[in-house]
Amino acid sequence: MRIFVLTGAGVSAESGLGTFRDKDGVWTKYDLNEVATPEGFARNPALVRDFYNARRVNLAGAEPNAAHVALARLEAVLGDDLFLCTQNVDDLHEKAGSRRVIHMHGELAVTRCHHCQATRPDVAALTAEAVCEACGRAGGARPHVVWFGETPLYMDAIEDALAQADLFVSIGTSGSVYPAAGFVTEARAMGIATCEINLEPSANAYVFDEKLYGPASEVAPAWVEKILGEM
Ligand code: OAD
Repeated sequence: MRIFVLTGAGVSAESGLGTFRDKDGVWTKYDLNEVATPEGFARNPALVRDFYNARRVNLAGAEPNAAHVALARLEAVLGDDLFLCTQNVDDLHEKAGSRRVIHMHGELAVTRCHHCQATRPDVAALTAEAVCEACGRAGGARPHVVWFGETPLYMDAIEDALAQADLFVSIGTSGSVYPAAGFVTEARAMGIATCEINLEPSANAYVFDEKLYGPASEVAPAWVEKILGEM
């Protein structure tokens, strides 16, 4: 059985990383237009770098929870038959042992040069003074994170994997940011079974065949055990 799993901020919430749209979520405290758009970066790069530097500090102290661990266990059994696509820019799936994670919104622990687009693993603070090792220019350091108005990464591989899946499972996402929010509708149109795991019904809840509600750290491991038991 081929399974496509899409994860969102809810899968990392119990690891202490804030979600975006819940009460007290990141976008209730920050204006996403100022910190998560190319225009915001052009207007005030220092503000944007400070925002992501704080998130890098939070990430350094975060540990995977039982949901990440369960998905790593599922990959250990299914291998390439599990396609794990995350909207999260954290590295908690990898820290839990997942080896094939597709980060469609990029990665916080990677720095990209705004001038030449070169990327490199980096968890240090982003600064205006940093000189790009690839092009030699300063002032271009930004997180390798997909901002609003930018195109998500790996879309061809994602669409291929979705088309080949037998089951589409969404875990911990509000279903409000496209294109990820549209995957369930695409899956349904292709006759693929669909399942939502979330704290509460998402914006797309009505589209899913199966719905499992509760904390991801409890519901996701139980779901993985059920799938493995059926194999
Ligand atoms: P949201 O913050 O929009 O939604 C988080 C979802 O997780 C909500 O539906 C919550 O109910 C659910 N949730 C919260 N705690 C949970 C828990 N313990 N267990 C299970 N579910 C829980 O986050 P995303 O949908 O991931 O993009 O947001 C999508 C994108 O919007 C992000 O990748 C980010 C953001 O702006 C960019 O920055 C480009």
